Amino acid sequence: MAGQEIDHTPRFITFEGGEGVGKSTQVKLLLEKLHNEGVGTVRTREPGGTPRAEAIRSFILSGQPQSWGTGAEAVLFAAARLDHVNELVAPSLEAGKWVLSDRFHDSTRAYQGLNGGVDTKLIDALEILALNGHTPDLTIVLDMDPEKAFERVEKRALEDGIPISADRFEREDLEWHRRLRDAFHDIVKNNEERCVMLSADQSEEELAEEVWALVRGRFPEIESVATG
Ligand code: TYD
Repeated sequence: MAGQEIDHTPRFITFEGGEGVGKSTQVKLLLEKLHNEGVGTVRTREPGGTPRAEAIRSFILSGQPQSWGTGAEAVLFAAARLDHVNELVAPSLEAGKWVLSDRFHDSTRAYQGLNGGVDTKLIDALEILALNGHTPDLTIVLDMDPEKAFERVEKRALEDGIPISADRFEREDLEWHRRLRDAFHDIVKNNEERCVMLSADQSEEELAEEVWALVRGRFPEIESVATG
């Protein structure tokens, strides 16, 4: 539109939530929608996203450092995040690309902090170190009753003929996953500007439409990013 300032700032959007809520699918669907609008986008995940962070991911999810305690796990996740931010997130944003991450720092606060007992001050300090100033512009927290989420994961695995193999965190009991859900609720309540909670207890398509409406509402410049 002539005469109107268009904000071309690339955005950093993270997806969070408990196990089996369908984050990865939603990240993929949002990436496709942004791509169709001509917005250059990078899709990534945590733990991981860079070779060094993926190495830390394999180590943590194997369960080997579990006996060191949740504090050590928080430090390992933060080390992976620091590399991810410095090597992928920050350079992508600087290159004008939007970044979509399947999990980011809120997972450490929920899993290791609120649910894992690691002191909030330590989690705060690790965030300062690992984020290096790159707080997400928007965090979409997908919410679902963990019992239902597990049923859905089992059903999908059966349909796809994939054997279910639980990693370090998936092996925790239902009570633990309920507390994890509460932790994400707390995080949303304490970060109302940045975080939006959406119910994952609906079809993938319906949820993707909600996500898209939210993202376009937050960043109306999307429609002019490609042409600007
Ligand atoms: P993943 O297979 O990616 O799980 P999901 O599909 O649910 O995202 O495994 C990542 C696991 O690591 C997941 O159980 C959440 C956990 N996690 C933490 O405990 N702390 C963190 O900071 C991050 C990023 C992940």
